[in-house]
Amino acid sequence: MDLSELGPVGIVGCGLMGAGIAQVAAQAGLDVVVKEVDAAALKRGLGRVDAQWEKAVAKGKLDAAARAACSDRLKGTLHWTDLSECGLVIEAVPELLDLKLKAFTELDKVMAPSTLLCSNTSSLPITELMAVLGPDRHPFVAGLHFFNPVPAMPLVEIIRTVATSEEALALLRAFVVQIGKTAILAPDAPGFVVNRLLVPYILDCIRCREQKLASTEDIDAGMRLGCGHPMGPLHLSDFIGLDTIVNVAEVMFEAYGDSRYKAPPLVKQLVAAGRTGRKSGLGFYRWEGDTRMEAQVL
Ligand SMILES: NC(=O)c1ccc[n+]([C@@H]2O[C@H](COP(=O)([O-])OP(=O)(O)OC[C@H]3O[C@@H](n4cnc5c(N)ncnc54)[C@H](O)[C@@H]3O)[C@@H](O)[C@H]2O)c1
Repeated sequence: MDLSELGPVGIVGCGLMGAGIAQVAAQAGLDVVVKEVDAAALKRGLGRVDAQWEKAVAKGKLDAAARAACSDRLKGTLHWTDLSECGLVIEAVPELLDLKLKAFTELDKVMAPSTLLCSNTSSLPITELMAVLGPDRHPFVAGLHFFNPVPAMPLVEIIRTVATSEEALALLRAFVVQIGKTAILAPDAPGFVVNRLLVPYILDCIRCREQKLASTEDIDAGMRLGCGHPMGPLHLSDFIGLDTIVNVAEVMFEAYGDSRYKAPPLVKQLVAAGRTGRKSGLGFYRWEGDTRMEAQVL
């Protein structure tokens, strides 16, 4: 099979990530079917995509005819059976093992035998998700880890399990190219490639702040201006969410037993105090929308 025979792309979950994936796939000329849990969630998800297209038209990046064509290619549904024609299904439901296992089990009932099935999970083992499917499906299962916000971030990690076939990997690489992104191949190990490297770096920066090596602003300015990073590490931490950082660090520490992945007390204390970053208005910085202001940390 090549990409032209793939058929529609199915996406399970039209939240932050699912909506972004649906948007880029439809913009790349692919037919897309997104499945949600109820009419309200579906309306919200499709509305999110539409708002992005609206913005692109207003900025002159998309003309009205192209926008209409993108809208025509994107269909929403509440039924698993509407994913039965898809050659590739990407699961993007919340990061809870039970929910993902349920989604895989339902998909198993409706998908054709060689449908490619991918999860956008950030931390759960693809192999564990795959285990609810029969062995015949295992060669067609992989991870496709997109980055947030999907339309802006050029990378996709393709996660290969011990059973993923070369044919599936080739199709996934072609899909990533078609949607205008760059793929890297990652193992099915916690953190894949990017978070395996990024998380210890962020935790080290937090440790430096904890040890009063420098102020929040100076650590961020140091890495931006001295290393060319687009965003300082503590600013980035507030964006990701300090609670998310603690959760991911715990998964990785448990998996690798390496102290580089141990969340420092400072970040745990900030989370315990409700300072989860931009989403709560307070983290390493104080936030009003996108505006960040100094905040006392230590
Ligand atoms: N948010 C990020 O920065 C980010 C980055 C990379 C990967 N991820 C991963 O992507 C996945 C989705 O994350 P998100 O941030 O988009 O979550 P989200 O909560 O914004 O969206 C999840 C959506 O899935 C829907 N859903 C739940 N059960 C469903 C079902 N059975 N069928 C159809 N839809 C269902 C929910 O209604 C919701 O709209 C997670 O695995 C997460 O770890 C997230």
